[in-house]
Amino acid sequence: MPTALLSQLYPAHLATLQQRTSAALERAGRDHLVIAAGQPHYQFLDDLPYPFQVNPHFKQWLPVTKAPGSWLVITPGQRPRLIYLQPHDYWHVVPEAPAGYWVEHFDIVIVREAREAAAYLPPQPQRCAILGETAAGIDEHVPDNTQAVIDYLHYQRAWKTDYELAMMRVASHLATRAHRAAEQAFRSGASEYGIQMAYLAAARETENELPYGNIVCLNEHAAVLHYTNLERNPPLHSRSFLIDAGASYHGYASDITRTYAGADAAEFQQLVDAVDAAQQQFCAQVTPGKDYAQLHVHAHHVLAGILHEQGFIRMSAESAVESGVSGVFFPHGLGHYIGLQVHDVGGFQQTDAGGSIARPAGHPYLRLTRTIDTGQVMTIEPGLYFIDMLLAELKKRPEAADVNWEKVDAFRRYGGIRIEDDVVCGETPENLTRDAFAALG
Ligand code: GLY
Ligand code: MN
Ligand code: MN
Repeated sequence: MPTALLSQLYPAHLATLQQRTSAALERAGRDHLVIAAGQPHYQFLDDLPYPFQVNPHFKQWLPVTKAPGSWLVITPGQRPRLIYLQPHDYWHVVPEAPAGYWVEHFDIVIVREAREAAAYLPPQPQRCAILGETAAGIDEHVPDNTQAVIDYLHYQRAWKTDYELAMMRVASHLATRAHRAAEQAFRSGASEYGIQMAYLAAARETENELPYGNIVCLNEHAAVLHYTNLERNPPLHSRSFLIDAGASYHGYASDITRTYAGADAAEFQQLVDAVDAAQQQFCAQVTPGKDYAQLHVHAHHVLAGILHEQGFIRMSAESAVESGVSGVFFPHGLGHYIGLQVHDVGGFQQTDAGGSIARPAGHPYLRLTRTIDTGQVMTIEPGLYFIDMLLAELKKRPEAADVNWEKVDAFRRYGGIRIEDDVVCGETPENLTRDAFAALG
């Protein structure tokens, strides 16, 4: 990513954040927004910290993710202040000196010890909305996570600025490059662990830097939705490969899933192709004004239609959805907002003042029920799986008579299919994932 483009887009991004902050503070009747980057957390009975994860509110303001003990103070009408903890420490790599296109927009104070930050925070804590984990507090400046401020900012976060979209395009490029390497490793017979190593090397990210733990599944393992075992030895035959893996760029995430059939698995390839075509049709519907929950229910109808056409079920798509049979094969949500967090916040929020939009009955795992709008980014990730536990339950129900068990049983060895892209809502939706794959050539 040319830094020139980021530095061009950054001032407008900051202006949007300033505007949102002013509105949020007005709602809450406070004068300052104070954001604690966060603290290291230690493992039980140990002096080893868990990998540091910065407060998402912090990394939205600046491309800095490794800044434990730092703070931001935003006061409407003033330059934002960064209180940056850069300890004198010869045991660890200390956070780098602030540098880059963002620095000139901040009033930066360097402190050498966490407690010194208190002197640079607004003197009246009760006039501040303080966002962060409680443990990050200093004296009276303890995060209260002011609800009215959180509600406003989380609702607004769904709309990405041009700067954020530029970040997410890079996160998609990094991940698709690694997906290609992973596919090659699969085709050459690598184990799940070997595929993971190929992925990390191509992404040039460590596991801790990824936005979530990779899901790398060969054969039946694809039936475990969040499989993370990474088997060290390859199976005798790699019949199918499902990989759900992303990348991070300055704290912005991509979240991508692909499913591949092995060389002798034409029957599985046929099902993958049908899910892929359906997925692209759903992506084309990521247009302003759509109710995402309805899109999810529509996906159930289309996927049930595929199960019917390809001879897995004899009942109609309608009755498969009505009876819940479609949910046996597609037991998760169609997708979620994505951005600073892989499952970005605000997916159920009714308005910028809070409230919640319920999931449709019978769809307990859907993570997004809002009406989508231009500039929001979400995943579209339909799937079809052959999950022993859910199939065993189905077998006990009257609808079992309308299932072609011979065919279903024959597909258990492939595990399942998921195809997941990150899509920017618009009259013509922008598919960050497919564009990034296409750019690889
Ligand atoms: N990678 C987790 C998800 O797709 O939501
Ligand atoms: Mn996802
Ligand atoms: Mn995913």
